[in-house]
Amino acid sequence: MARVSVRFDDLPIRDDLRGLKPYGAPQAPLPVALNVNENTHPVPAEVTEHILDSIARAMSEINRYPDREFTSLREGFADYLGHGLTHDQIWSANGSNEVLQHVLQAFAGPGRTAFGFAPTYSMYPLLSRGTGAEWISGERSPDFTVDAGWAAEQIADAAADVVFLCAPNNPTGTPLTIDVIEAAYDATDGIVVVDEAYFEFAPHGTPSALTLLPGRERLIVSRTMSKAFAFAGARVGYLAADPAVIDALRLVRLPYHLSALTQAAATAALRHAPIMLSMVDEIIAQRDRITANIQALGYEPYDSWTNFVLFGGVADPAATWQALYDRGVLIRDIGIPGHLRVTAGTEDETTAFLDALASIDSAA
Ligand SMILES: Cc1ncc(COP(=O)(O)O)c(C=O)c1O
Repeated sequence: MARVSVRFDDLPIRDDLRGLKPYGAPQAPLPVALNVNENTHPVPAEVTEHILDSIARAMSEINRYPDREFTSLREGFADYLGHGLTHDQIWSANGSNEVLQHVLQAFAGPGRTAFGFAPTYSMYPLLSRGTGAEWISGERSPDFTVDAGWAAEQIADAAADVVFLCAPNNPTGTPLTIDVIEAAYDATDGIVVVDEAYFEFAPHGTPSALTLLPGRERLIVSRTMSKAFAFAGARVGYLAADPAVIDALRLVRLPYHLSALTQAAATAALRHAPIMLSMVDEIIAQRDRITANIQALGYEPYDSWTNFVLFGGVADPAATWQALYDRGVLIRDIGIPGHLRVTAGTEDETTAFLDALASIDSAA
């Protein structure tokens, strides 16, 4: 029987969703995948064993709903983050994408606005519009930095309900210093979300926005296990904020949103945080190797405090992306003219990328 399908445009979909494009980084099965800023190292075998034990215990009670308050997991995150945080200041969900969605559901939504300095993480506008909020784009200087004064001016002008500060920024890798965050907070009455998804790749000793939490009840610091922790497939993100903010997020989450298996896996992984994070220095070394080598090839890499490098000087990004693809290497064309972005992989993956790039005519 022929499959009858309605045309998308004929659906009674919300008017404000018409014309939007879903998140769509290509998921191609290439030997070297360096396109979505994952940690390409597998979880160490000794930790995998403990995680499996923990999941097996959770299976014995899988007929019951999980702990709706995911208390053990929140205690684990509070211990990991330090700064005197306690579990009532922690929230978690299926990836920091869902954490950010909860923030927007509670503090943005129809008739409200959210703001960020473009180019920044592509999901901020999409998540904002998904809740019915309007997205407002701020500007960065040509090297993608924003200083405290200019940030405060733009944030005050936008008067948004939620402000996103991606520190360091995706897709540019740009650091964001604490003085900019302080100035941004003082320039708004709205919620300020500092997204520290890549914080573990910043230079050792870099102060986190967590240091600013005391006395700033509208500040939220979000993190993820998807990057440094090599746990992207498990889907676990988290944030730290005032307990009153956590109470607001409880209003919008689905009951039992974190499965017992997710809680078991993440809690076990956190108990082994130092081993889980043991590849971070190696990834930083590969990132810096990429920067040095692509510069030698004549490209223009930007300063990065993350696990990826954005580089300019690409005559035809689509052609270079395709030429790398044809050589089995997947990187990301993030739509900035003349630029491409590559994630730092293992030493072998990084070598494969650099060799492939060197074999391509840079004017391609
Ligand atoms: C800045 C930033 N925030 C949040 C996320 C979402 O991560 P996840 O939902 O896997 O925790 C990403 C993923 O690439 C990111 O780059």
